[in-house]
Amino acid sequence: MTANRIIMTDTRDLGHIDTPVLVFGGVYSNREAFEALIAEAERLAIPPQRMIHTGDIIAYGADPQACAQMLCDLGCPAIKGNVEQQLADGALDCGCGFEEGTGCDLLSARWYAYASTRVDQDLCAWMGAMPDHIRFEMAGVSIRVVHGAPSSVNRFLYGPEPDADFLGELETVSEDLVIGGHSGFPFFRKLGGQGWLNTGAVGIPADDGTPRTWYAVLTPQPEGVKIELEALAYDHAPAIAKLRAEGLPEPYAIAMEGGPVPNRDTLPAALQARAGQELSFAPVPFETGGAAASKIQGMSAVPT
Ligand SMILES: [Fe+2]
Repeated sequence: MTANRIIMTDTRDLGHIDTPVLVFGGVYSNREAFEALIAEAERLAIPPQRMIHTGDIIAYGADPQACAQMLCDLGCPAIKGNVEQQLADGALDCGCGFEEGTGCDLLSARWYAYASTRVDQDLCAWMGAMPDHIRFEMAGVSIRVVHGAPSSVNRFLYGPEPDADFLGELETVSEDLVIGGHSGFPFFRKLGGQGWLNTGAVGIPADDGTPRTWYAVLTPQPEGVKIELEALAYDHAPAIAKLRAEGLPEPYAIAMEGGPVPNRDTLPAALQARAGQELSFAPVPFETGGAAASKIQGMSAVPT
């Protein structure tokens, strides 16, 4: 379905981190959700330098300029998503690689045209200078933050794909844990001694029948890292009203209300089967390789 965009990797190394980190992505021009996330980080006493954005600050919503400026002002570590890259390049589409004329292609053309005329050149240049990946270490676990996948910025991995899809990517990196975004669905997969976490998206729900959106918190433990996927409740009505007032595609408004996500029929069958069912996740302990791999067998790594 997609033409993956292979990237030459520019990686920013944050070194060793020994305090909780909030990882989030896919703000998607949703100012109200981003404001709620920042407030939640303050409540959790997680400072901006311990927040990491996995890309796509801009997409479907009504406030592309405001959200990019907020991320810039926040000053947290952030990587380029395909949208940041495309806007910085002055490209004509969002870079997801949708086939021409498909529902995804037609909807994305509308929001991308809206966003690309509302973000100033200074912010586009700032986004273009972001690194492609971030890496850091926490409690003995090495972690690589990517947008779609290590191999390509716009590879969609939704969670239910075969192990081989993830293992083929994980074997290309030296880290224990990969954190990605792009697809917008929260999940954690344990694969041998490695793991794959998607934080979900801040800007649009995960098709679970609620308007809640998603982020993750990683907390160092005596041995390894605790991974928590958290739902974000926010004041979604103003964000939806603005989207409609700007004439942006109605399917995004419906999804933000907790209705079906656009083009649900293109998602993996397992996601379609659980659509409309409220998600929750148990915390997952993650240690690196070997004994740790067997230790966490059977832990809740999927929605509970
Ligand atoms: Fe993306």
